[in-house]
Amino acid sequence: MHPTLNVAVKAARSAGDIILRYHNQIELLTIENKAANDFVSEVDKAAEEAIINELKYAFPNHSILAEESGETLGDSRFQWIIDPLDGTTNYLHGFPQYSVSIALYDDNEAIHAVVYDPFKEELFVASKGGGAYLNEQRIRVSNGNSSSPFKNTLIGTGFPFKAPRHLEAYLNMFKTIHPQVAGIRRAGSAALDLAWLAAGRMDGFWEIELSIWDIAAGALIVKEAGGYIGDFSGRDGYLKTGNVVAGNEQVFKQILKTIHPHLTQDLQR
Ligand code: IPD
Ligand code: CA
Ligand code: CA
Repeated sequence: MHPTLNVAVKAARSAGDIILRYHNQIELLTIENKAANDFVSEVDKAAEEAIINELKYAFPNHSILAEESGETLGDSRFQWIIDPLDGTTNYLHGFPQYSVSIALYDDNEAIHAVVYDPFKEELFVASKGGGAYLNEQRIRVSNGNSSSPFKNTLIGTGFPFKAPRHLEAYLNMFKTIHPQVAGIRRAGSAALDLAWLAAGRMDGFWEIELSIWDIAAGALIVKEAGGYIGDFSGRDGYLKTGNVVAGNEQVFKQILKTIHPHLTQDLQR
């Protein structure tokens, strides 16, 4: 493993330890809703702090963009993009589908990525040009079917609960895709959705208006697993718009084609 990726993995594991430690206490505290909410935000912050400490120690000059503490500019072209806990709503409910997401970008290009699921002890990593791995085993996206791209496929998605103005367009997309595929899943951690897609557990994925830290690591893992990822026009703008389509080649193209008639002007990139 590349030494830089090793540092990112160590950071993700430190965050994972914190998330799991508090996870048991959340079960005791869930009766007090407000306290539970506060508690979760403490977990987010503590996990993020642990990650940043590890990264800063190894790479004091690198810039950082982290969900909870925002942007810290360094004097190098390298930027770490961090989501310390992706899937907070799941975490709060003891629904064990959440992850730590850490990516390193060189200017606008992803070079290292980690998505870590501390509950299932699943570590997804990728480095540019080096393939994608789950717990040290090479992973690949599922095989596509060029004559019937959606046949027997399992598709991941997320609901636009933070951007309800897109709900109608989203439901129209859903209605068109749903009857053509074997199933649609909304698992609740976009970073993990992309990592699972890379591992061939899902064939495709789409979601509206994600944040950059939800996608930054998962995108490289998908690409290094032989998958495709793009915005709603199929191009590279997904880190900016947060509109994401991913999949094996055939499913990626088919989702793009299928959602196209339902894109409002706002969603055309
Ligand atoms: C959320 C998850 C979820 C997606 C949301 C994200 P958070 O991240 O990735 O799957 O649907 O849009 O905000 O808030 O749990 O870090
Ligand atoms: Ca997130
Ligand atoms: Ca988060």
